[in-house]
Amino acid sequence: MFDSKTRTVVIVGAQWGDEGKGKLVDVLAERADWVVRYQGGANAGHTVHIGDDSFVLHQIPSGILHPGVRCAIGNGVVLDPETLFTEIDELVGDGIDVEGRLYVSDRAHLVMPYHKLVDKESQASRAIGTTGRGIGPAYEDKAGRRGIRVVDLKHPERLQELVERGCEYANMRLARFGTAQRASAAETLEALGRVSDRLLALADDLGVLLHRAMKRGASVLMEGAQGSLLDVDHGTYPFVTSSSTTVGGAAIGAGIAPTAIHAALGIVKAYTTRVGNGPLPTELDAVLGDRVRRLGNEFGATTGRPRRCGWFDAVVVRYAARVNGLTGLAVTKLDVLDTLERVALCTGYRRGDDVLEEFPADIAALESLEPVYEWMDGWQVPTGDARTIADLPPAARAYLDRLESLVDTSIRYVSVGTRRDQIIDVGATA
Ligand code: IMP
Repeated sequence: MFDSKTRTVVIVGAQWGDEGKGKLVDVLAERADWVVRYQGGANAGHTVHIGDDSFVLHQIPSGILHPGVRCAIGNGVVLDPETLFTEIDELVGDGIDVEGRLYVSDRAHLVMPYHKLVDKESQASRAIGTTGRGIGPAYEDKAGRRGIRVVDLKHPERLQELVERGCEYANMRLARFGTAQRASAAETLEALGRVSDRLLALADDLGVLLHRAMKRGASVLMEGAQGSLLDVDHGTYPFVTSSSTTVGGAAIGAGIAPTAIHAALGIVKAYTTRVGNGPLPTELDAVLGDRVRRLGNEFGATTGRPRRCGWFDAVVVRYAARVNGLTGLAVTKLDVLDTLERVALCTGYRRGDDVLEEFPADIAALESLEPVYEWMDGWQVPTGDARTIADLPPAARAYLDRLESLVDTSIRYVSVGTRRDQIIDVGATA
């Protein structure tokens, strides 16, 4: 992906998350100087398989698994310090050197224990099926100008005021939910006291660091969390996460200029999955859904919840390609479809005699729309050993060709298994 002109690349999920971004970031990080997370929080879960080991990273960019790559958590992330240090300690325990190459924006907001409490106790969060990691309440406090930023840890008196105000607001909400649970300012301050020095040691003005690195010609990989259809503006609102998961969010969430972004790689599964509630137009029936779920091991990396499975929805991905300005696609988990007799691609949504080809804002309308499918023969040959497009069976190639033309974005990578080497670089083999 990186070349002399393409120095800053954003990786985004182009469906509802869990597309396999971690694997692509891991592969591309080999040639990156920096890997930056720009939104979301500990709700994300990236699984990376290396040899027999698998790493699930919630907040730290998966670039950390590559020695020498600098990793950063941007201002657009809501950071859970407790989870961050558990993750760091686990990586160090696995022999991965984190020291001196992990940076945290001093402008990033913190997820406080009371945010998690509110998320878990809220009926509205349950209806959406949130991860319960306090993400929504933390972003609400950020927008409501009640948030606590990393930089606030430097000022104990101000911090106390902010924590007291945050607890008061959280307790007001908890009382309204009718639960007896309450947040304690003293306990919150004590918890912050335990991580404060460690967190401040990682804190820096990330926008400046990135700006200087880019001026020197550094290669920067920006790693999005969740997927485009979970974007707070462009997703299936209100069944979305609370941040801008799309490419526009990368500039804001890392503190760089939008014009500094040179390419955007959209990651899609060869089919569709979604965790949590909300529309999934191409959702499979229980039997086939269960089969694909088992074949693809579709259980949430963060919550372990079974993921809902569906056919590839080209309307969704075409929409994501437009909103993100995708310059290429990476299709993951093609091998999961290896044993299916037939595969389908959704090309539009039927309403009466009309076929809708653009993803609608009105999610209520989706309920009355029927997906229009194009059926294709399955390939029924294992694809896990393919390393070039030519190694794939003709039916799998035909499936990818059709997907590419429906989405109108060229496929740059195809992933055919969980291991690092199970990837086809179409650009390199074309
Ligand atoms: P929240 O981000 O925990 O507030 O959850 C809001 C919605 O986003 C729910 O439907 C979650 O299941 C979904 N979500 C959050 N994080 C992820 C992720 O990493 N992958 C897929 N879905 C996610």
